[in-house]
Amino acid sequence: MPEYTQADYELFAKKNSIQLSEIRPLSLEERIQRLEAEMSRTDVPYPIPPNKRAPYIAAAQRGLPFRTGNPGTESVALGDYECQQHYENYTFEEHLSWACLVAQQKKTKEKFACQEYQNGEKLFEISGGVIPDFYLLNARIYQQTAWQLATVNEIIPAELFFTCHSKRFFPVTTFMRPLGTDYLEEPDIGHDVAGHVATFTISAVANVMKYHGETRNIIYAERDQQIEAVQGDAEAIRLIKTTADELLKYAGRIYWFTVEFGLVMEKGEVRDFGAGILSSPGETIYSIGGSESNRILIDPSCDQDLLRLANTDYLISEFQKTYFVLENFDLLESLTPDRILEASKKAMNLPDFTWREIVPGDRVIDVGTAMMSVNEKYHRLMAGQEMDECLTRTAIKNLNLYREGISNELLAQFKQMPREVPHEVALWFEGNLEIVNSVD
Ligand SMILES: [Fe+2]
Repeated sequence: MPEYTQADYELFAKKNSIQLSEIRPLSLEERIQRLEAEMSRTDVPYPIPPNKRAPYIAAAQRGLPFRTGNPGTESVALGDYECQQHYENYTFEEHLSWACLVAQQKKTKEKFACQEYQNGEKLFEISGGVIPDFYLLNARIYQQTAWQLATVNEIIPAELFFTCHSKRFFPVTTFMRPLGTDYLEEPDIGHDVAGHVATFTISAVANVMKYHGETRNIIYAERDQQIEAVQGDAEAIRLIKTTADELLKYAGRIYWFTVEFGLVMEKGEVRDFGAGILSSPGETIYSIGGSESNRILIDPSCDQDLLRLANTDYLISEFQKTYFVLENFDLLESLTPDRILEASKKAMNLPDFTWREIVPGDRVIDVGTAMMSVNEKYHRLMAGQEMDECLTRTAIKNLNLYREGISNELLAQFKQMPREVPHEVALWFEGNLEIVNSVD
């Protein structure tokens, strides 16, 4: 991590039109005053009752680090992933990093974020010069949306992530990315707070989040029933657990292409609402105007389109190669737990698409320069050519599925899905089964 001097701080500040004097975290006393005023509000959708207010403020007053929110009635167990926000421990440089990031985001969000997202940000005063105090932020979020923050120390398993969602808790890290960093693979406050929090106010998006949590609950309830039925058979239990986690992975793709990387039409223009996009100023510009990526209109209320999302693989290590665009937010209301689960079950047994492909039947807005044909991944695999992990993974999954045979009934669910791979590919795969399947 580079060590910056005061002169560097001034340069960073100047570049982002910030005054260093604005980087002044409030004292505990000032924060408590704001918290008391905020929590006594009754003109909000979810007012906090006095019996919940008093212990919450008392904990903040005693200088206790923020853990998981508690103005509501739900709670969530985070186990080893639990973390606290020690507000006083943030350094000047961390606050400056936040201030620079939100200043950059402000410019790109004003231009490219949809209006609902921008309204949400104003509600939570995300764009301040210092890292938000979670006591205050959490209270505000609860009052407006009934969601709360659950502080975690790193990326948490999908199962726990969605468990939190089922109870309207959103896992947030307390770490701030190093000064001068635009895109991080791992989540930080710049992503979790400056990216996600505003989306809680878009009710259709918040519902999708909650429904993913409920989908997790159904998958795990079915899993536990199946485990009970096999009466201690270790191999059967292992398989049942793997299948449940796989299902969650496919459900997670629907979340990824909407909540994290979703775009929406607004007054005839493509706009961002995905938190993964909007937390990175670079990807915000790229997602709307970049020439590399595909942009495809999607209607998740249509089963085929929902499968298109669940059957598209992606990587988290670089900007996305395909974005899906909603015509409006209402279409997300169709994403009930039952539909998410049904699509996930089908997707698991259908061939995938890589993040670079255009599929017959796609309503294409833009074809990106990174686009590849459906069969290219197989030919590259045969030729031993270098390709990204998404292509390798997809090619191997699909070749195995085609080899084992996919039911026509299932293929009929996705009419544009290729029925088979080219003959020479299938033949080559047959002769190289072991080698190919040993590829990580
Ligand atoms: Fe995220």
